[in-house]
Amino acid sequence: MQQKVLILTGKLSESSGKFVVDVKDMPEPGPGYVLVEVHAAALNPIDCAMADTGLFVKEWPLTLGFDAAGVVKKLGEGVTHFAVGDKVMHAGTHVDPAVFTFQQYVVMRAEFVAKVPSNITLDQAATIPLTMATAALGLYDKKQKPFGGIGLTPPWEEGGRGKYAGEPIVILGGASGVGQHAIQFAKISGFSPIITTASTSNEEYLKSLGATQVVDRNLPLSELSSLVKQITDKPVKYGFGAIGTPDAQDALYDVVASGGQLLLVKQPTIDEAKLAKGDKYVGRVFADVHLPAQQEVGRGLYAHLTRLVEAGDIKPTKLEVLPNGLAGIPEGLQRLKKGVSALKFVARPQETP
Ligand SMILES: NC(=O)c1ccc[n+]([C@@H]2O[C@H](COP(=O)([O-])OP(=O)(O)OC[C@H]3O[C@@H](n4cnc5c(N)ncnc54)[C@H](OP(=O)(O)O)[C@@H]3O)[C@@H](O)[C@H]2O)c1
Repeated sequence: MQQKVLILTGKLSESSGKFVVDVKDMPEPGPGYVLVEVHAAALNPIDCAMADTGLFVKEWPLTLGFDAAGVVKKLGEGVTHFAVGDKVMHAGTHVDPAVFTFQQYVVMRAEFVAKVPSNITLDQAATIPLTMATAALGLYDKKQKPFGGIGLTPPWEEGGRGKYAGEPIVILGGASGVGQHAIQFAKISGFSPIITTASTSNEEYLKSLGATQVVDRNLPLSELSSLVKQITDKPVKYGFGAIGTPDAQDALYDVVASGGQLLLVKQPTIDEAKLAKGDKYVGRVFADVHLPAQQEVGRGLYAHLTRLVEAGDIKPTKLEVLPNGLAGIPEGLQRLKKGVSALKFVARPQETP
C-alpha cells in the first residue's frame, strides 16, 4: 500500500529546493515499533531552519516534521502496551529521519509514544511532544555535554512533585511553545515565583498556565535583573531560556545568581569573560528522547505523559489548523517564519487532496 508524504527536494535557499507531495510505500513496524496513521502534525521552527539551511540534514530528499498525533494501525512484535485503534502522540527523531511526521503513516518506537487522553483532541495532542520534551529534558535530564538538562528531580519521580517549592525561576519567552511547557513543568515542580517574559497580550494566558509574573518582553533586557529583584528578594538559582538570542542568553546569565544554573535552547553565545568565572552551570538541551544519553529521562517522561495531560498538568498549545493537509504545510512554514504569538500550526495529513 502507498501513502502521501511531503518531500523537500533540497534547501529552499537553493534552486533545487522545493516541497512536493509525493507517494511512497507505507512503512512496516519492526519489533518494538507501532505504525501510526497521522491525523495531526504540528509545525516547529526547526522545520523552517532545516528547510532553509539544511541544518542537521544528512541526505536529500527529506520529509520534515517533528510532532504527530494519530491512531495506531499495526503493532510490531513485542509491543504489548498499545492496541490497534489507540489514539497516540509522539515526536520525530534525528536518530532516524525516516520517521519525521509530515506523512500519512509513520512507524515509531513504542516506548516513546504516549496515549492521548480523552480530554484533548488529536489536533491539540500534536502541539505537545517536541516543545514539551524540550522543556522536560531541559529541566530534568542530567547535566551532561554536549546536550543535557539542569538535573532537577522530575515530578514523575518520588519526591519530585512540588520539590522546588519557594524557589524562584525565570523563564524567558513564556509564550513560545517551549516556554509554555517550561512554565507548566515549573508549576508542577513547585517553583514560585515563576517569572516569565512575553508580550503583555499573553499575560493572562500565561498566568493560567502557572506563571506568577509576566514581564513585558519589550522592556530592555538590561532592566530584567532589577525587575526580577523587585519581584523576589531570593537569589534566582534557576533560569530557562526558551528564547536563545545572544542578548537574551546574556540577560538570563546575569539574572541567575552565582552558584545557579541556566538552560538554553540554542548554542550558547554567552560572553566568554562572564563564563570564565565558572560560577554558573550552563546547560543546552536538544529535545530528542531517542538519543542514547537521553533515553532514561525520555522513558520516564513518556511513561507519565498521558497522566500529566489527563490531569491538566500539561495543556496543549493554542492552535490553528492549516487547510489542504500536507499540501498546506509549506505556506504554514512561511507564516511560522514571520512569527506567531502563542500559537501552533497543525496540518491534517489525511486531508491531503
Ligand atoms: N534545543 C531544542 O531541542 C529545541 C527544541 C524546540 C525548540 N527549540 C528552539 O526554542 C525556541 C522556541 O521554540 P518554539 O517552537 O517554542 O517557538 P514559538 O512557539 O514559535 O515561539 C513564538 C513565541 O516566541 C516569543 N518570543 C519571541 N521573541 C521573544 C523575546 N525576545 N522575548 C520573549 N518572547 C519572545 C513570542 O512571544 P509573544 O507572543 O509573547 O511576543 C511568541 O509567542 C526556538 O528558538 C526553537 O528553535 C529548541
